[in-house]
Amino acid sequence: MLTRKNFIQHTAFATAGLSLFELTQPAKAAELKIHLERIAGLEANNAAKDEEFWGWVREQYTTSPTITNFNNGGVSPQPKQVQDAHIRNYQYCNEAPSYFMWRQLDLGREPLRAKLAELAGCSPEEVAINRNTTEGLNSIIFGLNLKAGDEVVISNFDYPNMVNAWHQREKREGIKLNIVKLDLPIENDEVFVEKFEKAITSKTKVVHITHVINWTGQILPVRKIADMAHKKGCEVIVDGAHSFAHLNFKISDLGCDYFATSLHKWLCAPFGTGMMFVKKEKIKNIWPLLSAPEPESDDIRKFEGLGTRSFPAEMAIANAIDFHLLIGSERKEARLRYLKNRWSEMAKTISKVQLFTSLKPEYSCAIANFAIEGWKPEDIDAKLFEKWKIHVTTINHENVHGVRVTPHVYTSLKDVDLLAKAIIEITGMEPPKK
Ligand SMILES: Cc1ncc(COP(=O)(O)O)c(C=O)c1O
Repeated sequence: MLTRKNFIQHTAFATAGLSLFELTQPAKAAELKIHLERIAGLEANNAAKDEEFWGWVREQYTTSPTITNFNNGGVSPQPKQVQDAHIRNYQYCNEAPSYFMWRQLDLGREPLRAKLAELAGCSPEEVAINRNTTEGLNSIIFGLNLKAGDEVVISNFDYPNMVNAWHQREKREGIKLNIVKLDLPIENDEVFVEKFEKAITSKTKVVHITHVINWTGQILPVRKIADMAHKKGCEVIVDGAHSFAHLNFKISDLGCDYFATSLHKWLCAPFGTGMMFVKKEKIKNIWPLLSAPEPESDDIRKFEGLGTRSFPAEMAIANAIDFHLLIGSERKEARLRYLKNRWSEMAKTISKVQLFTSLKPEYSCAIANFAIEGWKPEDIDAKLFEKWKIHVTTINHENVHGVRVTPHVYTSLKDVDLLAKAIIEITGMEPPKK
């Protein structure tokens, strides 16, 4: 039901997005205004099916006309507006790099921090702008004060860059890892909470949770796990590489102490842009990974001593936020789930197809993973590309041996239907004999 609150939210999103075009492209702004006015009154699940609006969104991208890209989970393309802003910033900086980059463009850093904080639902004083999730989470993992014998809970489905960081602390300093064994998909919050709870001992200091598992798209009930972990005196780190700007939530909803994400995934910001959140009162306890003049200060900026990096890319994050707001977080999540459901619900009806992803809305959104009986993931990947020019990625992790499919906001129903048709055809083919 459309409430006054969500009407105002939709209208606010529309206004934020429109300013993106009004000055430079008035014709485009007028066209967009018509779409936004039409969908403003719709529930997100209905707006998710407004093909005229999503067709408009698609036109804002410059994606390949010959390849159907279903590996947006790896890294996402940027809409043209974001690419243009990035290139504009880049050319501007090249006029006199040290002046335009450090004295001019960098004036945008604090407004950008505020904008990211508003999107993330936290204070700007809790947001560090960096290059990716790996950098953010490694800063936290290596920055925490832990000593030999302290325990950390992770899972067998966490991302290797973080698992390796924890293993390094294990080898070097003698901390102990307790690895929760998940058997995905899981469709019960209490099962997750119980599994993490069982791994916590009186020596556990930290619980590390991946919000959306990259291998299968499984969504974890982070809030419930975090609340349980806090009751037991643990701190909570969340890997939000795949949840931020994909699911409609605020970091404060998760109840975590630390969170990091890559903005080149779901936000569609330039490649090599990321964000880290540290709860204000925790900042002083985390040692920065890269040197800072006052490593024990409680200023979040101590994590931004990255040396020279791409300011042009960083500053175009603001343009990506505008584009995201134009779509609206709730509408985006609904559309992504709609696209995933369209192919996966069909695939689920084929007896030879196995899904490694729950189709319940609370446990998955855009990402899903499937296998076909008798076929290796690599052979499905090759066949999809050879015959239909569909690009996916293969997953071989734990008991998951399948193909991961990740649409994005520019994905059309035609793309999804092509994939569905391809899956049907492959299930009728003989797998390659190797
Ligand atoms: C769950 C998860 N965490 C972290 C990362 C690392 O992201 P990045 O390479 O942008 O640091 C990924 C990348 O796919 C991921 O899926």
